Amino acid sequence: MRLGVLTGGGDCPGLNAVIRAVVRKAKRHYGDEVLGFHDGYRGLLENDFELLDVNRLQHTLPLGGTILGTSRVNPFKLTDGVATVLETVKANELDGLIAIGGEGTLSCSHALFERGLKVVGVPKTIDNDIGATERTFGFDTAVSIATEAIDRLRTTAESHNRIMVVEVMGRHVGHIATWAGLAGGATRTLIPEEPFDIAEVCESLARRHEGGRYASVVVVAEGAKPVEGSMEIPVETFDDFGHVRLGGISYHIAAEIEKRTGYETRVTVLGHVQRGGTPTAFDRVLSTRFGIAAIDAVHDENWGDMVALVNDRIVVVPLADAVADLKHVSPELWDTARQFFA
Ligand code: F6P
Repeated sequence: MRLGVLTGGGDCPGLNAVIRAVVRKAKRHYGDEVLGFHDGYRGLLENDFELLDVNRLQHTLPLGGTILGTSRVNPFKLTDGVATVLETVKANELDGLIAIGGEGTLSCSHALFERGLKVVGVPKTIDNDIGATERTFGFDTAVSIATEAIDRLRTTAESHNRIMVVEVMGRHVGHIATWAGLAGGATRTLIPEEPFDIAEVCESLARRHEGGRYASVVVVAEGAKPVEGSMEIPVETFDDFGHVRLGGISYHIAAEIEKRTGYETRVTVLGHVQRGGTPTAFDRVLSTRFGIAAIDAVHDENWGDMVALVNDRIVVVPLADAVADLKHVSPELWDTARQFFA
């Protein structure tokens, strides 16, 4: 077979491990040609690719980012974008495509599948918000980084009797915030799924400090939402996939906390630190399993499907199911997290 592979959307640790696994089995087991398209769908729009072999992927298992580059270019937003993608596939005599991406790239791949593209999806995102899979790779690494940050912030918070507000990624879901908050023993965690009342948050923090506790760490998902009308939040902007661009809500929350409690409050926005660098062992293994399953799915002609983790086994599910709904923090996990709030 002659295959294309691309990585789209925000990068995350483990992308190279997926590409490595795809190329390894494609070349050594199936004898395929693999074309690596650059910068997500931009590579297909501009016919920009490199031929991939096992040597090119040497030493990439622990490497963060993606050797293919990535972008949020969406062919559906461009005049003739879809036709151009389909023409590139035809001109290169591709038998199929593996698209490694998050919700935006997978939705776009599903829509292209409905227009004739033979595609298999691989779910990536540190946000862990893709439906139909228990886990996306990159999430475990992001949680580890955020947890380490919380641990470090706690000791400086204790020295200064301060409240630390730490903002983590998570546009529409609070998986990173909830997991890192639990792992780091957060005083309070704010997530998009559970609108917060700033007055109640501040009252509980003040009570805690009056009771003789000297430090608090509040973990905020970047997409956390105040109860309507209770607090002003930053103005939103949007990317090519129509996704909201966030980052900075914690400054507003910290200002309110300091004003209402009188305790010194500091902000740390972890931002892209959570997406960079080497993947954890868990993410390396999950990425590798996804990559092997993806090349097998291509040879089984599971077009329009995505590889997924279900009950700790790798399976294929329809892309349509994966992109239908975002996966939110479960009520059970949230209830566990709440037991430790101030
Ligand atoms: O989708 C993954 C993600 O890391 C989100 O958590 C975050 O809101 C967004 O990407 C940031 O995107 P960008 O890299 O374009 O700033």
